Amino acid sequence: MRFSENFITELVERSDIVDVVSGYVRLGKKSGSNLFGLCPFHSEKTPSFSVSPDKQIYHCFGCGKGGGVINFIMEIEGLTFPEAVEFLARRAGMPIPEEENDAESRKRARMLALNKDAARFFYEQLATPAGGAAREYMAKRRIGRATAKNFGVGFAPDSWDSLRNAMKAKGYTDFELADAGLVRRGKTSGFYDTFRNRLMFPVIDVRGNVIGFSGRILGDGEPKYMNSPETLVFNKSRNLFALNLAKKSKSGYIILSEGNIDVVSLHQAGFDSAVASLGTSLTPEQARLLSRFTNQVIIAYDNDGAGIKAAQRAIGILERLDVKVKVLRLNGAKDPDEFIKLKGPDAFRNLLEASENQVDYRLRSVTDKYDLSEDEQKVEFLKEATDLVARLPGEMERQVYARRVAELAGVAQEAVTGEVERRRKRALRSARQSDEREQTRPERQMQPIERSLRYDDPGSAAAEEGLIRLLALDPSLARKAALPDPADFSAPALGKIYSLVRERISRGESVDPNLLGQELSADEMSLLVRILQKPEVLSRSDQALQDYIKKIQEQRDARQQGNDLLTLQQKLKQTKGYRG
Ligand code: CTP
Ligand code: MN
Repeated sequence: MRFSENFITELVERSDIVDVVSGYVRLGKKSGSNLFGLCPFHSEKTPSFSVSPDKQIYHCFGCGKGGGVINFIMEIEGLTFPEAVEFLARRAGMPIPEEENDAESRKRARMLALNKDAARFFYEQLATPAGGAAREYMAKRRIGRATAKNFGVGFAPDSWDSLRNAMKAKGYTDFELADAGLVRRGKTSGFYDTFRNRLMFPVIDVRGNVIGFSGRILGDGEPKYMNSPETLVFNKSRNLFALNLAKKSKSGYIILSEGNIDVVSLHQAGFDSAVASLGTSLTPEQARLLSRFTNQVIIAYDNDGAGIKAAQRAIGILERLDVKVKVLRLNGAKDPDEFIKLKGPDAFRNLLEASENQVDYRLRSVTDKYDLSEDEQKVEFLKEATDLVARLPGEMERQVYARRVAELAGVAQEAVTGEVERRRKRALRSARQSDEREQTRPERQMQPIERSLRYDDPGSAAAEEGLIRLLALDPSLARKAALPDPADFSAPALGKIYSLVRERISRGESVDPNLLGQELSADEMSLLVRILQKPEVLSRSDQALQDYIKKIQEQRDARQQGNDLLTLQQKLKQTKGYRG
């Protein structure tokens, strides 16, 4: 839906960015008029996330994200623009204007309806003769009827068009099916079903919408899982399988596992707070989503090298959100599903109760690697273990674990504590340096961080950025020169931002980024904020304006000539080719 300019302006006025951001980030340390904190969108040790109370915008010098207060909520809560507006309106106690159905929300609603119909179709297939193979597989994996119903597990028949035909009969078009990722376009002819001969798990968001699917192969084979592609309603790094069920659990924690079968099997055994990520290792967005529903996560990944690595990564991400993390040690089974089948639910419950906190877990992983009766190995152990302890955030924690390490190695506690402090200082220093290096790399400064927005013609892009910045800082300049056409810009994203800025100025509207959220994507918004952050000397702005415009036009002509030359060359080649 589209919100009126007046409504957005009032909402932004009533949602002070410092207040809102402070709910997520501890802002300290002033530099100029800006407040700084640790960026919630990427991992860093020294603060490069800045909030400007004057301009009411945020910008991270490390990862490049930026925008106004609405963008901040979109990014951190994983919401769409209208959802973020609703979120802030509720917070500010403002009524939301009547919903009007715009094209995008109609499209979303239609895609959700299609997904629901597809899920129903898959579910119904289980009861048909074609579903025999799936029924057999489910019996083998001991997935019962009630569980299947609870999850909406279904079956995509071994056919190129059974879903497609069923959905077309319900009035959906091939293009709608393709947008939803349910069919693909063949190289030569027509569309065909994406999911074939797979056990289908609908992915349902926390509001109960079917947003996508994971299809597991029946038995062995590759790929084991196929997931819906990214669509208007599905993004696999922002959602978790079964969170719709787990969020209702009374257990007080969430169990994070790897495979959908593990999740289903855990729920079936009474562990109703199990979820799984959708084929990626846990992302910061997923962690944030989890932290909305629980403050304790128990990791139950597969008992193999990949699982252990993924657990370490997940621990790091969850710790930053103040989520308590424990890690299960699955002895004698490859994953939770196998464990429950071999040893039963009670054994699993004991395991949950005995699960170690993350530091114990990591320390034990290190201890297991070395034979501490050998001096050389003991030295290696001490290196690795003190390094681990040095990274712990709390002073008290470091003390406790330094003592543990000293005991394990049979050395004096002071020796370990001393080494921990030395390492800590060194690590902090190098973290600061690498943050700084990262931010001052020249190409990093010039190129947008967002890959899709890379500049082909950096010379022109610098002038395009300059022109946008000048106009935003002093809109009256728009009357002082013949402004170039957006089509003259070399970078499409800059052209889009520029044309928006120009239009708003001509209508006498403000170009505050807080008001542009409906027009710009997250990446474009970050780019705009980054452009506005760069210094510009306004005292000689008339001259700068002329210089930027001249540069843009020169570069446009140069590119045009280059293109002409290229076309000529191609034509020549072709003519030759025909003759030869
Ligand atoms: N995976 C995936 N997409 C999903 C779920 C899992 O790509 N929707 C990937 C995970 O990243 C992981 C693997 O599949 O690499 C999980 O496998 P596993 O735990 O073995 O899956 P299960 O369904 O539990 O299968 P199995 O019965 O073989 O354990
Ligand atoms: Mn598994």
